[in-house]
Amino acid sequence: MSEALIEIKGVRHAYQTKAGPLPVLDGLNLTVPEGGFAAVVGPSGCGKSTLTRLVAGLMKPDHGEVWLHGERVKGPKSTVGMAFQNPVLLEWRTILQNVMLPLEIVPTKLSKSQQEERARKLLALVGLEGFEEKRPSELSGGMRQRASLCRAIVHQPEVLILDEPFGALDAFTREDLWQTMHKVKAEEPFTGVLITHDLRESIFLADQVIVLSGRPARTQYVMDVHLTGERDIEHLYTPESAEALNILRHQIQIAQGRAVDAEAAE
Ligand SMILES: Nc1ncnc2c1ncn2[C@@H]1O[C@H](COP(=O)(O)OP(=O)(O)O)[C@@H](O)[C@H]1O
Ligand SMILES: [Mg+2]
Repeated sequence: MSEALIEIKGVRHAYQTKAGPLPVLDGLNLTVPEGGFAAVVGPSGCGKSTLTRLVAGLMKPDHGEVWLHGERVKGPKSTVGMAFQNPVLLEWRTILQNVMLPLEIVPTKLSKSQQEERARKLLALVGLEGFEEKRPSELSGGMRQRASLCRAIVHQPEVLILDEPFGALDAFTREDLWQTMHKVKAEEPFTGVLITHDLRESIFLADQVIVLSGRPARTQYVMDVHLTGERDIEHLYTPESAEALNILRHQIQIAQGRAVDAEAAE
Protein backbone atom coordinates (compact mmCIF):
# COMPACT_ATOMS: atom_id res chain seq x y z
CA MET A 1 0.00 0.00 0.00
CA SER A 2 0.97 3.65 -0.12
CA GLU A 3 2.81 5.85 2.36
CA ALA A 4 2.17 5.90 6.09
CA LEU A 5 -0.62 8.28 6.97
CA ILE A 6 -0.67 7.71 10.72
CA GLU A 7 2.60 7.06 12.51
CA ILE A 8 2.89 6.55 16.23
CA LYS A 9 6.46 6.12 17.34
CA GLY A 10 7.57 5.04 20.79
CA VAL A 11 4.72 6.82 22.57
CA ARG A 12 4.74 6.80 26.35
CA HIS A 13 2.26 8.60 28.53
CA ALA A 14 1.25 8.78 32.19
CA TYR A 15 -1.75 10.60 33.67
CA GLN A 16 -1.01 12.68 36.74
CA THR A 17 -3.50 11.60 39.39
CA LYS A 18 -3.89 12.44 43.08
CA ALA A 19 -2.37 9.05 43.86
CA GLY A 20 0.65 9.85 41.67
CA PRO A 21 1.48 9.19 38.02
CA LEU A 22 -0.55 6.47 36.30
CA PRO A 23 1.51 5.08 33.39
CA VAL A 24 -0.95 4.28 30.60
CA LEU A 25 1.07 3.91 27.42
CA ASP A 26 4.57 2.51 27.42
CA GLY A 27 6.11 2.02 24.02
CA LEU A 28 3.30 2.27 21.53
CA ASN A 29 4.10 1.91 17.85
CA LEU A 30 1.56 1.93 15.07
CA THR A 31 1.69 2.68 11.37
CA VAL A 32 -1.41 2.93 9.22
CA PRO A 33 -0.90 3.45 5.48
CA GLU A 34 -3.06 5.88 3.55
CA GLY A 35 -6.44 4.24 3.02
CA GLY A 36 -5.67 1.54 5.60
CA PHE A 37 -7.96 0.50 8.41
CA ALA A 38 -6.41 -0.58 11.70
CA ALA A 39 -8.32 -2.18 14.56
CA VAL A 40 -6.92 -1.81 18.06
CA VAL A 41 -7.89 -4.36 20.69
CA GLY A 42 -6.69 -4.76 24.24
CA PRO A 43 -7.83 -5.20 27.83
CA SER A 44 -10.27 -2.71 29.30
CA GLY A 45 -8.47 0.32 30.73
CA CYS A 46 -5.21 -0.38 28.89
CA GLY A 47 -5.12 2.99 27.15
CA LYS A 48 -7.07 2.59 23.88
CA SER A 49 -9.12 5.78 24.23
CA THR A 50 -5.96 7.59 25.30
CA LEU A 51 -4.42 6.49 22.01
CA THR A 52 -7.35 7.99 20.05
CA ARG A 53 -6.96 11.32 21.87
CA LEU A 54 -3.27 11.39 20.94
CA VAL A 55 -4.01 10.76 17.26
CA ALA A 56 -6.70 13.47 17.25
CA GLY A 57 -4.22 15.91 18.85
CA LEU A 58 -6.45 16.39 21.91
CA MET A 59 -3.51 15.39 24.12
CA LYS A 60 0.26 15.35 23.82
CA PRO A 61 2.26 12.29 24.84
CA ASP A 62 5.01 12.60 27.48
CA HIS A 63 7.43 10.89 25.10
CA GLY A 64 7.40 9.78 21.49
CA GLU A 65 5.78 11.17 18.39
CA VAL A 66 2.49 11.13 16.56
CA TRP A 67 2.54 12.00 12.86
CA LEU A 68 -0.35 12.50 10.47
CA HIS A 69 0.37 12.74 6.76
CA GLY A 70 4.02 13.69 7.33
CA GLU A 71 3.21 16.36 9.91
CA ARG A 72 3.90 16.09 13.63
CA VAL A 73 0.63 16.36 15.58
CA LYS A 74 0.83 19.26 18.01
CA GLY A 75 -2.81 20.19 18.56
CA PRO A 76 -6.39 19.31 17.60
CA LYS A 77 -6.77 18.39 13.94
CA SER A 78 -9.87 19.09 11.88
CA THR A 79 -8.64 16.44 9.44
CA VAL A 80 -9.66 13.83 12.02
CA GLY A 81 -13.26 12.67 12.44
CA MET A 82 -14.37 10.77 15.52
CA ALA A 83 -17.30 8.59 16.56
CA PHE A 84 -17.82 7.03 19.97
CA GLN A 85 -19.87 4.33 21.70
CA ASN A 86 -22.30 7.06 22.81
CA PRO A 87 -23.36 8.93 19.65
CA VAL A 88 -23.91 12.23 21.59
CA LEU A 89 -26.33 13.76 19.10
CA LEU A 90 -27.95 17.09 19.99
CA GLU A 91 -31.63 16.56 20.78
CA TRP A 92 -32.71 20.07 19.75
CA ARG A 93 -31.38 19.53 16.24
CA THR A 94 -32.79 17.28 13.53
CA ILE A 95 -30.71 14.35 12.30
CA LEU A 96 -29.78 16.36 9.19
CA GLN A 97 -28.73 19.35 11.33
CA ASN A 98 -26.70 17.07 13.59
CA VAL A 99 -24.84 15.62 10.62
CA MET A 100 -24.13 19.11 9.26
CA LEU A 101 -22.70 20.36 12.57
CA PRO A 102 -18.98 19.85 11.74
CA LEU A 103 -19.43 21.94 8.58
CA GLU A 104 -20.32 24.90 10.83
CA ILE A 105 -17.04 24.49 12.69
CA VAL A 106 -14.50 23.23 10.15
CA PRO A 107 -13.76 25.60 7.23
CA THR A 108 -15.43 24.31 4.06
CA LYS A 109 -15.64 25.46 0.47
CA LEU A 110 -19.13 24.03 0.13
CA SER A 111 -22.10 26.38 -0.16
CA LYS A 112 -24.97 25.91 2.28
CA SER A 113 -26.96 23.90 -0.26
CA GLN A 114 -23.93 21.75 -1.16
CA GLN A 115 -23.41 21.06 2.56
CA GLU A 116 -26.98 19.91 2.88
CA GLU A 117 -26.67 17.82 -0.27
CA ARG A 118 -23.59 16.10 1.13
CA ALA A 119 -25.24 15.38 4.49
CA ARG A 120 -28.31 13.95 2.73
CA LYS A 121 -26.12 11.79 0.50
CA LEU A 122 -24.31 10.33 3.51
CA LEU A 123 -27.56 9.69 5.37
CA ALA A 124 -28.86 7.81 2.31
CA LEU A 125 -25.59 5.84 2.11
CA VAL A 126 -26.04 4.53 5.67
CA GLY A 127 -29.75 3.77 5.15
CA LEU A 128 -31.26 6.80 6.89
CA GLU A 129 -33.06 8.29 3.92
CA GLY A 130 -36.41 9.62 5.17
CA PHE A 131 -35.14 10.25 8.70
CA GLU A 132 -33.44 13.58 7.99
CA GLU A 133 -36.04 15.67 9.83
CA LYS A 134 -36.40 13.36 12.86
CA ARG A 135 -34.94 14.13 16.28
CA PRO A 136 -32.31 11.78 17.75
CA SER A 137 -34.74 10.39 20.36
CA GLU A 138 -37.04 9.21 17.56
CA LEU A 139 -34.32 6.87 16.24
CA SER A 140 -33.14 3.47 17.48
CA GLY A 141 -29.63 3.06 18.92
CA GLY A 142 -28.33 1.59 15.67
CA MET A 143 -29.82 4.45 13.64
CA ARG A 144 -28.31 7.04 15.96
CA GLN A 145 -24.95 5.38 15.51
CA ARG A 146 -25.38 5.56 11.73
CA ALA A 147 -26.11 9.28 12.01
CA SER A 148 -23.09 9.73 14.25
CA LEU A 149 -20.95 8.03 11.62
CA CYS A 150 -22.24 10.46 8.96
CA ARG A 151 -21.41 13.39 11.24
CA ALA A 152 -17.87 12.05 11.77
CA ILE A 153 -17.14 11.98 8.02
CA VAL A 154 -19.25 14.85 6.66
CA HIS A 155 -16.24 17.21 6.50
CA GLN A 156 -14.23 14.57 4.61
CA PRO A 157 -11.59 13.97 7.28
CA GLU A 158 -8.43 12.15 6.24
CA VAL A 159 -8.57 10.04 9.39
CA LEU A 160 -11.62 8.45 10.96
CA ILE A 161 -11.32 7.28 14.56
CA LEU A 162 -14.01 4.98 15.86
CA ASP A 163 -13.86 4.31 19.61
CA GLU A 164 -16.02 1.23 20.27
CA PRO A 165 -18.84 2.68 18.11
CA PHE A 166 -20.86 -0.52 18.00
CA GLY A 167 -20.14 -1.69 21.53
CA ALA A 168 -23.57 -0.87 22.96
CA LEU A 169 -25.60 -2.42 20.13
CA ASP A 170 -27.16 -5.88 20.01
CA ALA A 171 -25.36 -8.51 17.94
CA PHE A 172 -27.58 -8.33 14.84
CA THR A 173 -27.67 -4.54 14.71
CA ARG A 174 -23.89 -4.58 15.11
CA GLU A 175 -23.48 -6.91 12.13
CA ASP A 176 -25.72 -4.60 10.04
CA LEU A 177 -23.49 -1.71 11.01
CA TRP A 178 -20.39 -3.66 9.94
CA GLN A 179 -21.89 -4.04 6.47
CA THR A 180 -22.67 -0.33 6.44
CA MET A 181 -19.07 0.43 7.38
CA HIS A 182 -17.87 -1.55 4.35
CA LYS A 183 -20.22 0.47 2.17
CA VAL A 184 -19.02 3.76 3.63
CA LYS A 185 -15.36 2.77 3.27
CA ALA A 186 -15.93 1.95 -0.40
CA GLU A 187 -17.59 5.33 -1.10
CA GLU A 188 -15.71 7.69 1.19
CA PRO A 189 -11.93 7.50 1.25
CA PHE A 190 -10.44 7.64 4.75
CA THR A 191 -7.72 6.08 6.85
CA GLY A 192 -9.31 4.40 9.83
CA VAL A 193 -8.53 3.44 13.41
CA LEU A 194 -11.18 1.32 15.08
CA ILE A 195 -11.08 0.61 18.79
CA THR A 196 -13.07 -2.49 19.58
CA HIS A 197 -13.37 -5.34 22.04
CA ASP A 198 -15.02 -7.55 19.42
CA LEU A 199 -12.42 -9.70 17.66
CA ARG A 200 -14.85 -10.70 14.89
CA GLU A 201 -15.51 -7.02 14.24
CA SER A 202 -11.77 -6.37 14.07
CA ILE A 203 -11.09 -8.95 11.36
CA PHE A 204 -14.28 -8.18 9.44
CA LEU A 205 -13.56 -4.47 9.14
CA ALA A 206 -9.84 -3.91 9.44
CA ASP A 207 -6.82 -4.89 7.36
CA GLN A 208 -4.55 -4.79 10.38
CA VAL A 209 -5.28 -5.75 14.00
CA ILE A 210 -3.08 -4.41 16.79
CA VAL A 211 -3.24 -6.10 20.16
CA LEU A 212 -2.19 -3.89 23.04
CA SER A 213 -0.77 -5.32 26.23
CA GLY A 214 -2.35 -4.59 29.60
CA ARG A 215 -1.69 -1.18 31.16
CA PRO A 216 0.73 0.41 30.63
CA ALA A 217 0.08 -0.60 27.04
CA ARG A 218 2.65 -1.34 24.40
CA THR A 219 2.14 -2.82 20.95
CA GLN A 220 2.10 -6.52 21.75
CA TYR A 221 1.07 -8.11 18.49
CA VAL A 222 0.19 -7.05 14.95
CA MET A 223 -1.83 -9.20 12.54
CA ASP A 224 -2.43 -8.52 8.87
CA VAL A 225 -5.95 -9.45 7.91
CA HIS A 226 -7.02 -10.64 4.50
CA LEU A 227 -10.75 -10.50 5.02
CA THR A 228 -10.92 -6.78 4.18
CA GLY A 229 -13.57 -5.98 1.64
CA GLU A 230 -15.48 -9.19 2.27
CA ARG A 231 -18.99 -8.04 2.98
CA ASP A 232 -20.48 -11.36 3.80
CA ILE A 233 -20.67 -12.28 7.49
CA GLU A 234 -20.22 -15.92 6.38
CA HIS A 235 -16.55 -15.14 5.82
CA LEU A 236 -16.22 -15.01 9.60
CA TYR A 237 -17.00 -18.73 9.75
CA THR A 238 -14.27 -20.01 7.43
CA PRO A 239 -11.36 -22.04 8.88
CA GLU A 240 -8.99 -19.12 8.07
CA SER A 241 -11.11 -16.70 10.09
CA ALA A 242 -11.42 -19.18 12.96
CA GLU A 243 -7.65 -19.52 13.04
CA ALA A 244 -7.11 -15.74 13.00
CA LEU A 245 -9.66 -15.33 15.82
CA ASN A 246 -7.94 -18.04 17.86
CA ILE A 247 -4.57 -16.36 17.54
CA LEU A 248 -6.06 -13.01 18.55
CA ARG A 249 -7.93 -14.54 21.48
CA HIS A 250 -4.68 -16.09 22.70
CA GLN A 251 -2.93 -12.72 22.38
CA ILE A 252 -5.68 -11.05 24.41
CA GLN A 253 -5.24 -13.67 27.10
CA ILE A 254 -1.53 -12.89 27.19
CA ALA A 255 -2.38 -9.16 27.39
CA GLN A 256 -4.65 -9.88 30.33
CA GLY A 257 -1.93 -11.94 31.97
CA ARG A 258 -4.16 -15.01 31.79
CA ALA A 259 -2.45 -17.09 29.13
CA VAL A 260 -2.09 -20.72 30.05
CA ASP A 261 1.45 -21.72 29.30
CA ALA A 262 1.02 -25.44 28.54
CA GLU A 263 4.70 -26.28 28.89
CA ALA A 264 5.08 -24.49 32.20
CA ALA A 265 2.00 -26.29 33.53
CA GLU A 266 3.45 -29.74 32.81
N1 LIG B 1 -7.87 12.15 32.19
C1 LIG B 1 -7.46 11.10 32.93
N2 LIG B 1 -6.86 11.28 34.13
C2 LIG B 1 -6.45 10.23 34.87
N3 LIG B 1 -6.59 8.94 34.49
C3 LIG B 1 -7.18 8.70 33.31
C4 LIG B 1 -7.66 9.76 32.47
N4 LIG B 1 -8.21 9.21 31.37
C5 LIG B 1 -8.09 7.88 31.50
N5 LIG B 1 -7.47 7.57 32.66
C6 LIG B 1 -7.12 6.23 33.12
O1 LIG B 1 -6.15 5.71 32.21
C7 LIG B 1 -6.38 4.34 31.96
C8 LIG B 1 -6.57 4.14 30.47
O2 LIG B 1 -7.78 4.79 30.07
P1 LIG B 1 -8.38 4.64 28.62
O3 LIG B 1 -7.41 5.15 27.62
O4 LIG B 1 -9.73 5.27 28.65
O5 LIG B 1 -8.51 3.03 28.49
P2 LIG B 1 -9.38 2.11 27.51
O6 LIG B 1 -10.00 3.00 26.48
O7 LIG B 1 -8.40 1.12 26.94
O8 LIG B 1 -10.39 1.40 28.35
C9 LIG B 1 -7.58 3.92 32.79
O9 LIG B 1 -7.10 3.35 33.99
C10 LIG B 1 -8.27 5.23 33.08
O10 LIG B 1 -8.95 5.19 34.32
MG1 LIG C 1 -11.97 3.39 25.96
